[in-house]
Amino acid sequence: MQALTLEQKAALVVGASFWSTASAEGIPSVVVTDGPHGVRLQRGGGDALGIGDSVPATCFPPAAGLASSWNPALVERVGVALGDESRAEGVGVLLGPGVNIKRSPLCGRNFEYFSEDPLLSGELGAAWVRGVQSRGVGASLKHFAANNQETNRMTVSAEVDERTLREIYLPAFERVVTGEQPWTVMCSYNRINGVAAAENRWLLTDVLRDEWGFRGLVVSDWGAVEHRVPALKAGLDLEMPGPQSDSTAAVVAAVRSGELDLAVLDAAVRRVQHLAERAWTGSSTGGPASAGSAGHHALAREAATESMVLLRNEGGLLPIDTAQAIGVIGEFARTPRIQGAGSSQVTATRVDSALDAISSISPVEFAPGYSLDPRVAPEPLIAEAVSVARRSGTVLLFVGLPARDESEGYDRTHLDLPDAQVRLIAEVAAANPRTVVILTNGGVVSLEPWHDSVPAIVESWLLGQAGGSALADVLFGRVAPSGRLAESIPLRLQDTPAFLNFPGDGDTVRYGEGIFVGYRYYETVDRPVRYPFGHGLTYTTFAYSDLVATPKGASVTVTNTGSRAGADVVQLYISAPTDGVPVPRRELRGFEKISLEPSEAIRVHFELENRAFSHWDVSRKAWVVAGGRYSVEIGRSAHDIVASQTVELAPPRVGRLTLDSRVSDFLGHPVTGPILARAASGVDDGDNANLLEMVASMPMRRLMRFPGVGDSFKRVGVLIALANNPVVRGVASLLRRR
Ligand code: BGC
Repeated sequence: MQALTLEQKAALVVGASFWSTASAEGIPSVVVTDGPHGVRLQRGGGDALGIGDSVPATCFPPAAGLASSWNPALVERVGVALGDESRAEGVGVLLGPGVNIKRSPLCGRNFEYFSEDPLLSGELGAAWVRGVQSRGVGASLKHFAANNQETNRMTVSAEVDERTLREIYLPAFERVVTGEQPWTVMCSYNRINGVAAAENRWLLTDVLRDEWGFRGLVVSDWGAVEHRVPALKAGLDLEMPGPQSDSTAAVVAAVRSGELDLAVLDAAVRRVQHLAERAWTGSSTGGPASAGSAGHHALAREAATESMVLLRNEGGLLPIDTAQAIGVIGEFARTPRIQGAGSSQVTATRVDSALDAISSISPVEFAPGYSLDPRVAPEPLIAEAVSVARRSGTVLLFVGLPARDESEGYDRTHLDLPDAQVRLIAEVAAANPRTVVILTNGGVVSLEPWHDSVPAIVESWLLGQAGGSALADVLFGRVAPSGRLAESIPLRLQDTPAFLNFPGDGDTVRYGEGIFVGYRYYETVDRPVRYPFGHGLTYTTFAYSDLVATPKGASVTVTNTGSRAGADVVQLYISAPTDGVPVPRRELRGFEKISLEPSEAIRVHFELENRAFSHWDVSRKAWVVAGGRYSVEIGRSAHDIVASQTVELAPPRVGRLTLDSRVSDFLGHPVTGPILARAASGVDDGDNANLLEMVASMPMRRLMRFPGVGDSFKRVGVLIALANNPVVRGVASLLRRR
């Protein structure tokens, strides 16, 4: 460090190329690359435009699929494989995971994100980071923060209130940072309440470093830095991509003029150096398995089986009876769509089609049903498909969103499948009542108006390169489905919580729904959805018994009551008392995936921390547990609660009273409460309770300004002194408890 000139230091905090950090004497360059569901290493250094031109790598299921596994152990194994493939290619940092919340189903990048729920996103993101980093490769947790849409992503300001940020949009990042210390965190493009993420000191320093204890390096999203010096001051260590001579010159000039403290630049350089040391230590420790290994394809297949969700299975149509003639309809069965478009798109080592995989199990008749080329007329294809459906015992109908519908860089404007496919479903279902619809889509699609016309539906998301074989495994019952929805499937776009505020007016997007995102909204306002968050069927059934809950944890027994082995995802929700701050009807606070043989039972334990019962108190700038009765609930989904128990939590420790405290704070206080109540009962008009309630929300100081009341000013001073005396307060609390 000491040997470096100012110019060298300024050059180190900007990348050397599109995909590498700068080097200097003793500080080697590090190769970074996308992420998150495969290693997209571009040949010859690459650039922004050569997205498709990357070396072959295993394409695992994108996050939308992987999240539906609700299985951190599986995600961690995928992370290990990704870490190994990165190492084999000399990649020091893999750019992922993306833990942004799915605020609206329209976000074009939802396929790259895990969930509408912060706990699920955080646990799965943490597992991904654990896996990758266990191989000596760094992760880049992205996109920090409130990057929940693609429309105007580089300029839009997400207007989000503090409680909503703390409870919904930051916790997944917090979980990954505090638990796993990712080597890097990537700041997002957008502004947050007016301040660009790249220049947001509150976000990058106060919260990330000072509160959460982040020790790694903050990197910009590619092209997110507008003003290098303010960004550096805010806590952004490394600008990517590089080189950017204007940034380097600005940093040099700012240090020279005294505008930028050299210590700030030194700290960023030290983090670049530390990253390089870690990456190079990692790269010298042993020979990792490379892409193309059979093991990684098998893992991609296993992950894909867990990523699909059996939404509906009337009459037990699945698993398929091979004695029946099988008709396979839909171009996606032959030409699978395995991932979304944009920077995450990898070149797969191979791709299994469902048509091949199904044909290897049972003879099938195939019709494409539609073309992926929008110029081809649909009618003849639909007619051909209907005749195949008529001749078949069971129809496997593959439909989904065309690739151009979902991509990084833009959002969707509706939730519908293409018209021709909706017509195809109607006609095939009319021709054959034993029709299974298999959906291919990265973001949620509408299942209307055709949902009721088919007995079975599999939501297969985007499954990565082995999705075709995995689908055959599940459809034929070689593997039982075990996915659960990581996001709600609404009935109508108009029902979604962000409908009125997405994607904003161009410059700003107001997060008007606040904390009521996804199921938190649907459950609170009692709005029906097609399928709730957490829903998913399998080929067996489970029963829940003997729930025991305390503020420290809960246990429940789960029994496989069906005749086949299967995996269940036990979901624990907490429902907070509704008489204080507004709260969602329930929130996911724990989950556990377990496998059970027929008749087998397992006792599942959840630990609960205070945080599970807390909300973010804006005035105290802290997590606070409101006292009262909480319900601990076990659910098959966010809507289907199968067991619940009440636990009682003590009210928070009383804060200090001041003249700015509300009258209600004085009334609720163990010292002043009884005194005021007694005093009020002396005011003899018979309506004292109302009188107190009327002024309850007034700060005491303001009440004092009312004629007559001000005379008591001195006595209030005495009350406050008494109330804040720890001994008096302790005695009063004891008396109250007795
Ligand atoms: C994306 C990031 C990605 C980066 C590098 C950006 O456009 O938002 O997710 O890691 O490019 O490709």
